[in-house]
Amino acid sequence: MPHSKEPTSASRLIKGLEGVVAAQTSLSDVDGANGRLLYRGMMIGELVEKSNFEEVTYLLWFKKLPTAEELETFRSTLKAQRPLSDLALRILKLIPTTTHPMSALRTMCSLMGSLDPRAHIVNPEESQRKAYHLTGIFPTIIAAFHRLREGEKPIQPDPDLSHAANFLYMMNGVKPTPEMEKALDAYLILLADHGLNASTFAARVTTGTLSNLYSAATSAVGTLSGELHGAANQYAMEMILEIGSPEKAAAYVNKLLDEKKKVMGFGHRIYKTRDPRAEAFRAIAKDLCVKAGKTTWLEIADEVEKVMWERKKIPCNVDFFSAPVLYVLGFPPDFFTTVFAASRIAGWSAHIIEQQLDNRLIRPMAEYIGPQEQYYIPFEQRK
Ligand SMILES: CC(C)(COP(=O)(O)OP(=O)(O)OC[C@H]1O[C@@H](n2cnc3c(N)ncnc32)[C@H](O)[C@@H]1OP(=O)(O)O)[C@@H](O)C(=O)NCCC(=O)NCCS
Repeated sequence: MPHSKEPTSASRLIKGLEGVVAAQTSLSDVDGANGRLLYRGMMIGELVEKSNFEEVTYLLWFKKLPTAEELETFRSTLKAQRPLSDLALRILKLIPTTTHPMSALRTMCSLMGSLDPRAHIVNPEESQRKAYHLTGIFPTIIAAFHRLREGEKPIQPDPDLSHAANFLYMMNGVKPTPEMEKALDAYLILLADHGLNASTFAARVTTGTLSNLYSAATSAVGTLSGELHGAANQYAMEMILEIGSPEKAAAYVNKLLDEKKKVMGFGHRIYKTRDPRAEAFRAIAKDLCVKAGKTTWLEIADEVEKVMWERKKIPCNVDFFSAPVLYVLGFPPDFFTTVFAASRIAGWSAHIIEQQLDNRLIRPMAEYIGPQEQYYIPFEQRK
């Protein structure tokens, strides 16, 4: 007897869960209507201007800005997590250098769980310890993979440098200028958290099953790597490089739109009028590119933005103007999403702990639309 069920209004299919409220958070307030983003009630613009990644991570994790002493202890704890063990480095060297950096990071994130004898213990205190570990070590993993791919030796972290400066030092092999440090620090602040975005949702779903922080972070890294989420920054930069000069931008973008293709770094599920992070990046990109004498990428980006606005009225998102920033800082485009992950690990960790403190298994339903009343057919009767 057929038993198809009509979905009730309460169980109505909402594709992409658009507009569905699936969690409560006190971490970041993504105010799409007004184009604002706040961490624990503080505007991100003010945090970029006055704070730094370590302090913002403290704010996300411990719900308040640290005192000078608390910040010092926090920095030291994070710094202690930077070095890669010999075993981890040996395993990293086994990953083919043709592997996409996000795949390498995902593998290494999972490996950190395999190497931690307390990985399986799940409670907020243990998760806090693991959060320090992954946040401290992500830049080392990313930079070491970059160096190995370039045929160079990985560079040991420098405990005298800030999180951002040390990241650039391990990537490029030279200490960054204060402008470069400030630009990466701003990037790390601006990307640290963003409500229930896809990768954070993935982290919370994994956490909801009482799986540990390494598993949840590995789910999140995998989810971030898609082009509709974190990989848009890589594709935005590749597009800017392919366009090559500002006068070619309009024809390039118009062709993409005529072919009904998406232009990477534009549009957003929540911000329909403005992405506040995009505006912050435009200013940072301008400053950095002008000082570095590399303004071509910026001029191309400006042209692309103009055409997108004229034709589609779609504003750019965080991934657009951050692309030239990361490029000028020395990150190859296929490493851009790993830098995003090195920032978002702060937010993922905070969400994982928030989920653990008030957990309920996240288990939505699917509306079954397949056949009914099918019977097993023996091989000899199958066509
Ligand atoms: C981010 C994104 C997935 C949000 O998607 P969404 O809320 O599901 O919106 P949709 O993809 O349904 O887009 C709505 C409309 O705007 C158009 N649109 C959205 N983003 C676009 C883009 N980047 N380029 C061209 N058109 C775009 C869609 O084609 C669609 O038009 P239609 O109604 O004529 O079919 C989408 O804007 C996108 O794919 N952007 C490019 C990837 C990117 O930059 N991702 C990083 C996000 S921070």
